[in-house]
This record gives sequence, C-alpha cells and structure tokens, in this order.
Amino acid sequence: MEITNVSEYEEIAKQKLPKMIYDYFASGAEDQWTLRENRNAFSRILFRPRILVDVSKIDLTTTVLGFNISMPIMIAPSAMQKMAHPQGELATARAASAARTIMTLSSWSTSSVEEVNSTGPGIRFFQLYVYKDRNVVLQLVRRAERAGFKAIVLTVDTPRLGRREADIKNRFTLPPSLTLKNFEDLDLGKMDKTNDSGLASYVASQVDRSLSWKDVKWLQTITSLPIVVKGVMTAEDTKLAVQAGVAGIVVSNHGARQLDYVPATINSLEEVVKAAQGKVPVFLDGGIRRGTDVFKALALGASGVFIGRPVIFALAADGEAGVLKVLEMLRDELELTMALSGCTSLEQITRNHIITEANLPS
Ligand code: FNR
Repeated sequence: MEITNVSEYEEIAKQKLPKMIYDYFASGAEDQWTLRENRNAFSRILFRPRILVDVSKIDLTTTVLGFNISMPIMIAPSAMQKMAHPQGELATARAASAARTIMTLSSWSTSSVEEVNSTGPGIRFFQLYVYKDRNVVLQLVRRAERAGFKAIVLTVDTPRLGRREADIKNRFTLPPSLTLKNFEDLDLGKMDKTNDSGLASYVASQVDRSLSWKDVKWLQTITSLPIVVKGVMTAEDTKLAVQAGVAGIVVSNHGARQLDYVPATINSLEEVVKAAQGKVPVFLDGGIRRGTDVFKALALGASGVFIGRPVIFALAADGEAGVLKVLEMLRDELELTMALSGCTSLEQITRNHIITEANLPS
C-alpha cells in the first residue's frame, strides 16, 4: 500500500514489532494527557494564508549552529533503535545524510558513536545523559568529539524516568541480543529485567539526579562543542539557560514521556522564544507529524524542529528507506504549506501567518 503521510508508519510498526517494543516506542507517561495534547494543540492553530505571492521558487534551506542543512526538520534522539530494525541507528544516520539534515544520536543507542561515524559524512549531534560516574561522561564526550559529532544535546528533563505504565506492565528491558553500545566497554551496556520497567531501574541506578546548572558549567569545561539544552518548558529556565551560555534550547517534553500534564510543546514555545530574546536559537520537538506542524512551530519562533516517533516507526516498517521517506514527506508538506501560505523562504514565515486564538467548535 502506498504511504501518503508519516503517521501511517505507526500501524505498520505496531503489526511488525513485539508488543513490549512497540509499547516502549509509542507510550507516554501516566495518563498520557500530554501525549494526546502534543498532537491536539497543533489542530487548534489555524492559518492566515497570503495570496498572489509568486511561489514558483521556494527555499527551505537553513543554518543550525552554523551548519547548513536542507530544511528545518531534524532527527531527535531516540534510544535503542536496533529494537526497531537490525540496522538501527546506522540506517537513521544514512537517511539523515541523504536528506542533508541533522541526526541526533541518543546516549542509549544500540550502535556506538564510532559505528555511526563510520556510515559516512553527515552532521550529527550527540545527546547526553549525565551518569553519576563523571568519568563515564568524560569518556563518552571525548569519543563523541573524536567521532565527529558537532554538538552536545544535554537532556535536562530526566533526573528520573517518567512513569510509563506500559513498560511497567510489560517488564520492559533491552533484549539480551542488544547492548547500549556506547557503554559496552564500561560494563554498563546491559539492562536487567526487573519487577518494574528495566529502563526506569537502569536510570535510577546510573543517571545523576543531582544534575543542576553548575553541571552545565562543568560540561562547558570538558568540551568545546556547543551545548544545547533539551527539555526546557518555561521562560524562567530559558533565562537561566541563556545566562549559562548554552548554544541553543530545545522546547521539549520528551515526547510526553516524562512529566504528564505539562502543556503541549507548541503551546510553551512562544514563552520560551520571548524569554530567549533572540540570544540563542530555540528549537521544538513533540507531536510533529505534518509539514503544517513545522510551519506553525516556525511561525511561533522556532528555528527548526526535531522528530522522534515518526523516525522510529518508519525505521521499523522500512529501515533506511522508511526514514528517508519520512524526511522527504515532511519536507514536501512544508514546501506545499509555504506555497499555499505565500512564503518563499523560512524568514518569510511570521506570527501573522497563523491564528492561535481561533474560535473552534469543541
Ligand atoms: C525518546 N526521547 C529521547 N530523548 C532523549 O533525550 N534521549 C533519548 O534517549 C530518548 N529516547 C526516546 C525514545 C523513544 C522511543 C521516544 C519516543 C522518545 C525523546 C525524543 O528525543 C523527543 O523529545 C520526542 O520523541 C519528540 O516527540 P515525538 O516527535 O516523538 O512526538
């Protein structure tokens, strides 16, 4: 069957994958209110299209942290991609390169930073979870630097793992045939099966829940790579992030997998953009499934977006080709949205192209 939008991959992935694995990829925390809201909030934002603009040429290219990419759509870090497809992160990396966009590799990837680098050239960021043992962090950052990664994306919303009830019920654990490859040599690559989510137990034992702004400073002393903080949801934290000298901010609620009943990211974006005062770029992830969603995020001030689950589900369904198709479909949809709204470049997308206070039938 012909795939015509990125959401269609989810059903295919669901059919293909064992329940424990599909549930891990798909779930949100607790009542999953934020999971639904990440999508629903986009449907309450409408367009104010401009007409009779010459849209015969549209430029989607942009620059992120000084790197030129083909479009403002990038790949969010998601863990353990070999559970989706045997090629896992390697397939994702190749698809991102082919689409000329940025891939963010998770700390908890099932392929190492070196293996991902060996797939060939590409602009890649490394997502960092800070372990209690700072030597682990130091070594990992060094390896990411040597493997050509261009930025550290520090996840700041996970001092503990959110309560994902499907993972608890399924006693989720990393299949024994796989490892968290970056940690293999440190004897931290395996996940035990516990009476809980195996990942929640792993996080509780390894991840440093004392992480604070002083550790951001520490990170700056051990690397010269730009540091992007991922998981900011308020103006207050945006100001602290700017003060700390970060290179960028990702407005993210971790795909609704951490604290339930936080707003949809698209509804927190404007607050963060205003507080950032143009001093650092602000990105968004969460619920992006259409080119129209990307346009709405840009209209509210995002410099670009990251996508999570669509990549995983396409990877499960069709490997590298699936991920590439997701990136191409979103690019084509964004281009069409721009054409139909009268914008020929990303700079032309403004707040006036959307309505956020529309009177919608409930
Ligand atoms: C994630 N996310 C995530 N974030 C992170 O910083 N490190 C990680 O290892 C992971 N792993 C992960 C696994 C899975 C299965 C999902 C769904 C998500 C969060 C991810 O980077 C991103 O914030 C969200 O996925 C964005 O929301 P959408 O696009 O999935 O709606």
